[in-house]
This record gives sequence, structure tokens and C-alpha cells, in this order.
Amino acid sequence: MLWNGCFYWLKQKIRMLILGLETSCDETAVGIVDDNPDPAKSIRAHKVATQLAEHRPYGGVVPEIAARAHLDKLDDLIRAALEGAQVTLDDLDGVAATCGPGLIGGVMVGAMTGKAISAVRKLPFVAVNHLEAHALTVRLTNEVAFPYLLLLVSGGHCQLLLVKGVGQYRRLGTTVDDAVGECFDKGAKLLGLGYPGGPLLERAAEKGNPQAFDLPRPMHGRDGCDFSFSGLKTAVRQLVAGKTLTEALVADVSASLQQAITDILADRTAKAFQILRDKNEKMTALVVAGGVAANQPVRKRLTELAVSKDLPFIAPPVGLCTDNGAMVAWAGLERLRLGLQDGLDTASRPRWPLDSPRA
Ligand code: KG4
Ligand code: ZN
Repeated sequence: MLWNGCFYWLKQKIRMLILGLETSCDETAVGIVDDNPDPAKSIRAHKVATQLAEHRPYGGVVPEIAARAHLDKLDDLIRAALEGAQVTLDDLDGVAATCGPGLIGGVMVGAMTGKAISAVRKLPFVAVNHLEAHALTVRLTNEVAFPYLLLLVSGGHCQLLLVKGVGQYRRLGTTVDDAVGECFDKGAKLLGLGYPGGPLLERAAEKGNPQAFDLPRPMHGRDGCDFSFSGLKTAVRQLVAGKTLTEALVADVSASLQQAITDILADRTAKAFQILRDKNEKMTALVVAGGVAANQPVRKRLTELAVSKDLPFIAPPVGLCTDNGAMVAWAGLERLRLGLQDGLDTASRPRWPLDSPRA
């Protein structure tokens, strides 16, 4: 009994509790996670204050408004997260904040807040690459071993990566122009669906015919696994130009656009898989991450692809696909577990490719 008690105490002591701050775009988000062996219990707090109302009148994210909104919301959100997790700053073992890539004003708000907490409480600080946070999210909720093939699809990025370990990423393909989330958002804007476009377009597409319009699928079938979406955006603009946007037309264009995007993502991912197989590279799973990973038809199509390749398909829960603080806290935890921490002089970076050396 006494021994059991000691063991439990020891397990509690080696458990890490990490605060994560996310302010790189239009979600102010705070998460608290620990390394509970049961992934379902690792998230102790997951608070997101969206800035949709602030940006909606402009049809997109306005960087200056975003930075000010982060400043307004972040302290209260941290307080709410600590209360929700029933912990205080004294219970933390580390602080992680997104330090890039992203809209630099907002990134600096989160980074400076994280550094201030770290300095005052003498806690280790981790400067998190936002893309790494997306890339590792799946390990917060599922037991996924390295290496895995990752399709990272968000508002600012569209990449295929071999995730070999924390900090070890090999980029296999990327977009040569726009990100896939941008294509969803622009399509939705052209169809008068509003902002943010991805989820609204997915809903509109439910009533439409995906075969109604034969939209282009740039890069489809090409060698390599790069992406391109600007031609698809232009095709949608030309398709709807001068037309009355009836509910039926909006539904059909939405469904056709979503179908084209889904085809492109599946084709490029299949190519990446083949490239890795040809090199006898090991993969434990096909993983999708980032905001667009919340899209159900995309998830379904990638599931079918993975099944056909005899590979498990793993996607984070929808609520953890879009930007959140839990994923930042988790990336911090994964780094701290390996003894990796950053100085308080680490700069915030508007651009920060995942496969580049850390500053
Ligand atoms: O990862 P994220 O929250 O922010 C960035 O790091 O960019 O991704 C936001 C993007 C937006 O373009 C949004 O429209 C898209 O993800 N998105 C979706 C869905 N939910 C969010 N796209 C398609 N279907 C969705 N359900
Ligand atoms: Zn993101």
C-alpha cells in the first residue's frame, strides 16, 4: 500500500503540466496539457476566443485588428484556462508560445506573454513553430509513433511531410502558390458565403452536385507532390462571373470546388506515399492536420486512400484541427521531454519553414 502510494506520488511528480499560447492568426487560444499516459485525459484546458466578429466586416483577417484583439483577450483566456484546469501558475512545469510563422503583431503578443510568465515564474520556455504544433497534434490524442506521412493543410500552408521525430521533418511537397485553406476561403467569398469560408463552403456543398462543374485540378497526376491552387480559384471566379448566385448554383459550385480540392489532395498524397515506398521509407500512418483537416469529405477521401495503401489513417478531432492552444502546449511538452527549451531572446518570426534550422 505504502509502496503504491510512493509510486503514485512519483508518477505525479514526473508528469509535466504545460501552458500553451496561440496567437498567430485570428484565434486567441490557450491550452494546458499534461503527459497523462491516457491521451483522452491529457488536455486539461482548451480555450479558444475567436475573432470572427472583428474580421467579418472585412471578409478576411486584418493583421492590426488581430494583434489588438489578441492583446485584449489573452490575459482573461489564460485566467479562464487555469481555472478550468483547476491549477495555478505555480503548478506549471513550462510555458510554450507560438513564435511563428504567422501575422507578426499577433505572434509577438503571445510570445511576449509566454516569455513574461516564464521569466516571472522561472519556468522553461519553448518557442513553438506553429506548423510543428499542427504536425504533432495527433500524438496528443492518439498513440502514433514516428515516422508518419503528414498532409498539413491550413489557411497559410499546404505541405506533405515525412515526420521523423520532434524537430525532424522532411518536406516532400508544398504549394507553389496559394494554400488550400485560402482556396476554400476565396471560393466561399466569391459565392457570397462569408468568412471563414472552409466550414461554410462545406455546409453549402452538402446540398450540391460535386459533378455539376468540371473544375481544373492543377498538378493532378504530375510527378512529385507539389500543389497549386491559384488556377482553381481563378476558374471559380470565371465560372460565377455575371451569374446570379442562387442557392442551387452556390451549392453546386461549392460541391464541385470541394470535389476538385479533395481530388488534388488525394492525388498528391498518393504520390508522396509512392515516393516514400519506392525509397523503402517506413511509415506508421497517414496523418492529416491543420484547419482543412476538419473537412469531412477530405477526411473520408484520405481514409479511403490510406486503406488502399494498407496504412492507418489518423486525424485529430475536428476541434483540434483548427488553431488552438492545446496543440502548442503539446508541442512544448514534446520538446521539453527531450530537454529542448529556448532562450527568452528567441525572436518571433513571420516566416519559419518547418524543415529549416531553429534560430
Ligand atoms: O489551421 P488553421 O486554423 O489556421 C492556419 O494555421 O491557417 O486553418 C484555417 C483554415 C481556413 O482557411 C479555414 O477556412 C480552413 O482552415 N477550414 C476548413 C474547414 N474548417 C477550417 N476548410 C474546409 N473545411 C472545413 N470544415
Ligand atoms: Zn494553423
